[in-house]
Parts: sequence; structure tokens; C-alpha cells
Amino acid sequence: MVKILGICGSPRRKSSYTALQAALLAAESEGDVQTELVELRARKMRPCIHCNKCLRDESDRCTVFTDDMTELYDKFYEADGVIIASPVYEMSITAQLSTFFSRFRSAWMISVKDPYFFMKKVGGAVVVGGTRNGGQESTIQTINNFYNTQGMTICPGGSGVYAGAALWSPGDGSQTMDDEIGIENAKSLGKKVAIMSKIMKNTDVI
Ligand SMILES: Cc1cc2nc3c(=O)[nH]c(=O)nc-3n(C[C@H](O)[C@H](O)[C@H](O)COP(=O)(O)O)c2cc1C
Repeated sequence: MVKILGICGSPRRKSSYTALQAALLAAESEGDVQTELVELRARKMRPCIHCNKCLRDESDRCTVFTDDMTELYDKFYEADGVIIASPVYEMSITAQLSTFFSRFRSAWMISVKDPYFFMKKVGGAVVVGGTRNGGQESTIQTINNFYNTQGMTICPGGSGVYAGAALWSPGDGSQTMDDEIGIENAKSLGKKVAIMSKIMKNTDVI
């Protein structure tokens, strides 16, 4: 059994949420996969202030702020695979997701103690823009760069999907399922994250 955590970086439950749900359902269809979807919307999270207290305390989590981020550390550290979804905001990720990412400075302490902890974790990216070419690829890259900073193993979408699933959902976000290619790509990515998570979890090389 592998655990795949879906993280939705949207401030609303609309297109990114729908695309992430599709990816997680597809991941589950691979069997022996448990998924959970958490949303960053309406969470109270302070951004990192670079005080380095987490490093001085040798903690795997922030030790200055106790907020809605606290429970997310455990979920993230326990997951074998992670799929992060974000709307495209100014050709990049949302402020909510950026805040979430910034709070992982403390993860450095885990890597110091176990250099292979994050390598075994697999990450995939799903993004939704309001225009056809509104910065989906740069947003995927920003999410994948977060995985890079943790030393995680990035799961590419494969042929036709490339670095992650890019969707288009104009207007109020209600037409997400109409982007058939985008949804298919989200499902394809979800399946690949599931397969790759199993491989990485069960490898006896590391
Ligand atoms: C502040 C803001 C900035 C946005 N910037 C972009 C952008 O640069 N490119 C784009 O294609 N869409 C942009 N959009 C549109 C959203 O990406 C689009 O509506 C998306 O489907 C919203 O995702 P959600 O339904 O999960 O909230 C922006 C929307 C907002 C509110």
C-alpha cells in the first residue's frame, strides 16, 4: 500500500480541485493506493521569516509558528507520493502554495539525518490556467522545483503530458471536465505517480 497526498493550492474549490480529484482517482485505480486530498484554502499559514530557529532546534518543522501548517508536515512526510495542484496566478503558483513551500526550510534537517528520505518520495504537478497558454508550463516548473529543493523524485507525465498535467478552465472554473485532454493528462499523471511511488517504496537499492 502506498499513500498519495494531493495538495490543492487554490483559494477556492473549483478547477484545480476537480483536476486533482481526477488525478487521485486514477492513482487509486492502480490498486493498493490510499489517497488523501488536502486544501490550502482558508488555512491560516504564515510564510517563512528565515529566522533559522527550525535549524537551530534541529526540528523537521517550523518551531516559531503554530498554525494550520502544523498538521500538514506529518501528512507530507508520511506520503509516498505527492500530487500538487495549483491554478496559474501571474504565470506561476498561488500565494497559498508559495507560503506552504516556504515552510519546508526545516525539511533540511531530515535530509541531513537521512539523505534518502526524500529521494524515495515521488512528486507530480497538475495546473489549471484561465487561458490556453497562460503560464501552465512555468507553473508546473515551479512545483517541480519545490520537489527538486527537497531532493524528491519528480514524476513526469510521459509522452504527450511532459513535465506535468496542464489544464485550461475559462471563467468560473465549472468547465474543467470539458478540457478532455487536460483531464486525461491529469489521470495519466496520477497513474504514473502511483506506479512510481510503488517502485520507489519497494526498492531495496536505497
Ligand atoms: C490573481 C489571478 C491571477 C491569474 N493569472 C493567470 C495567468 O497568469 N494565466 C492564466 O492562464 N490564468 C490566470 N488566472 C486564471 C486562473 O488560473 C484560472 O481561473 C484557474 O482555473 C483558477 O483555478 P481554480 O478554479 O482552481 O481557482 C488568474 C486568476 C487570478 C485570480
